[in-house]
Amino acid sequence: MASAAIATNTTGISRREFLHYIWGASIALYVAQFSGLLIWFLLPRFREGEFGGEFILPLEAVPGVNAQPSNFPDGRFWLVNLDSDEPNELFTLASDETGVSFKGVAAIYKVCTHLGCIYPWTAANNRFECPCHGSKYRLDGRRIESPAPRSLDRFPLTFLDADKNPIPGAQSELENDFYQPVILPDGAAFIKVNTGARKLGPTETLLCEFAGACP
Ligand code: FES
Repeated sequence: MASAAIATNTTGISRREFLHYIWGASIALYVAQFSGLLIWFLLPRFREGEFGGEFILPLEAVPGVNAQPSNFPDGRFWLVNLDSDEPNELFTLASDETGVSFKGVAAIYKVCTHLGCIYPWTAANNRFECPCHGSKYRLDGRRIESPAPRSLDRFPLTFLDADKNPIPGAQSELENDFYQPVILPDGAAFIKVNTGARKLGPTETLLCEFAGACP
């Protein structure tokens, strides 16, 4: 019997060894899970060209001054090029009536600030009109009529040179925590829009109130 027990111990795995293996395997599994989570956490959430990430577009994507907005469905934004000092039919009220002037390029979120509908540009009326509950916005995103609680949200943008390097001073600046239009600089070849850094539009007086003609 004694010789048989000794033979078993030399050819099999003892209980102690078995527990060591289980313990080692558990540690290895834990380390693998932790490493996987760490890599997942460190990887960027969004890729370039994906909503929530950065979009780099050729300068031709920018519309002409006070022209119809350019639509970018993948990034869920409009590009607009504004100059409130240039008289034109796209602004329902001139800047001196509202006390606000605006000049430059802006990236406007395509989702209505009321309950989140996607709204189109309505060329016949020269404004954005939400089909869900009738909110209306000017070309710069300022709300004309409620029920929208605020003007349209914006994304930050940066103008890039031909090598896709940022042009100094040609990126969105914040004023009252809202991105201001960026004046198109000399030497710009691309425009970069970051859809992962949206700022909410401000709550401003309805433009229909200035006109004294709210529905
Ligand atoms: S969601 Fe646009 S007006 Fe209601």
